[in-house]
Amino acid sequence: NETKLWGGRFGEDVDSLMEKFNSSINIDKRLCHADIKGSKAYAKAIQKSGLISADELEAITSGLNEVDEEWKKESFVIQRNDEDIHTANERRLTELIGQQIAGKLHTGRSRNDQVATDVRLWLKDEIKSIKVILARLIQCICDRAHREIDVIMPGYTHMQRAQPIRWSHWLMSYAVAFLRDMDMLNDMYKRVDVLPLGSGALAGNPFNIDREYLAKELDFAHISFNSLDATGNRDFVSDMLFWSSQFSCHLSRLSEDLIMYSTKEFGFVELADKYSTGSSLMPQKKNPDCLELIRGKCGTIIGKAMGFLTTLKGLPSTYNKDLQEDKVPLFETCDMVVAMIEIAMGVINTLTINPLNMEAALTKDMLATDLAYYLVRKNVPFRIAHNLSGQVVKKAEEKKCKLNEVSLEELRKISEKFDADVVEVWNFEHSVEQYKASGGTSKSSVLAQIESVSQCLNH
Ligand code: ARG
Repeated sequence: NETKLWGGRFGEDVDSLMEKFNSSINIDKRLCHADIKGSKAYAKAIQKSGLISADELEAITSGLNEVDEEWKKESFVIQRNDEDIHTANERRLTELIGQQIAGKLHTGRSRNDQVATDVRLWLKDEIKSIKVILARLIQCICDRAHREIDVIMPGYTHMQRAQPIRWSHWLMSYAVAFLRDMDMLNDMYKRVDVLPLGSGALAGNPFNIDREYLAKELDFAHISFNSLDATGNRDFVSDMLFWSSQFSCHLSRLSEDLIMYSTKEFGFVELADKYSTGSSLMPQKKNPDCLELIRGKCGTIIGKAMGFLTTLKGLPSTYNKDLQEDKVPLFETCDMVVAMIEIAMGVINTLTINPLNMEAALTKDMLATDLAYYLVRKNVPFRIAHNLSGQVVKKAEEKKCKLNEVSLEELRKISEKFDADVVEVWNFEHSVEQYKASGGTSKSSVLAQIESVSQCLNH
């Protein structure tokens, strides 16, 4: 079994099904550049500790650069024996520069600290690109909220008409959630930004490797504290899966709102044709597949997070091969997250709103709270005002009329405090403008939210 990097102690070839079962190259080849970056830094570190000469370092570095080029040009030929990206890169390096030198690269290193390093390097880049598009998503919501600040629509709780709100207020509720996601992503990044290299298989590094130097070379903020933990720890993967679950829940709820708002029954928004699909049977259909897929993929992502936590839960200390199962959920989740952000951004940028339908859906009973506040402003205790306004609602229902159609005479029978100025209550613009306290739905409050979110984004 000489073709395997670890073949020395083995007497017979690996079963061919076992070989296939064990192989991860088709998945972890995505780490090709990270793996080479890590190896180049490691080569420098072992030269620093006197394990290889300057010439040998030069040979290893240029060999690794060549392997990197092959990956870039897609000319790297994966071979049956390439178990994973680490063995594949080393096999190719050996072909290029010979075993006498290439054979020194792995001194003191294990695939255990190598893979943990590679995945962290990859994820750091991935988080950086997710942050860029997430910021664009938040910005596009802020821009739209700013443009359409004057549009008023019904706000719902329990999916029942509750109080009038600004459309922009609704939009910004998601911008704010996404800003929180950004904050969590930044926080999580700190824990990804820890270097495991130099931990060996589990016990550490016996060649006095300068790990701080390695961290500098690979642009890690910190080095790991404990080699047993460093090689067996995939918390940064579950963190990312958890983050993606929570983030995609936000996207899913946004989608659910928009799916409803786009029905003919609501008619508040219409999705652009380029984000919609038709029915193969019903010619009139225009379906919000984009949003349904976001909602659906959120479920898939939560499943990946649960699946990986289940993989972790019973593992003994340090590296176990189960950990190889981290990559499929991590890569697939990150890919889905990127696609979901891009689609959500496209949908939000291109949908049209129908302010007339939103206005038509506003009913006077949604001002019953304001009617109570009218009385509160005339010094009636809120609990009593609530009850009196409730009596007006009941009266309107009895008379099968709108809340504002209950006559002043009738109102005064319910409370002496009602006066001619009560007509001001029946105005939706007037209603939303009361909510001036920070976070509320008045124009100034929503504009301030847009301002705060934009500021946090560009801090
Ligand atoms: N392909 C492996 C993984 O992704 C690399 C580490 C293998 N280590 C080992 N001791 N077999 O986890």
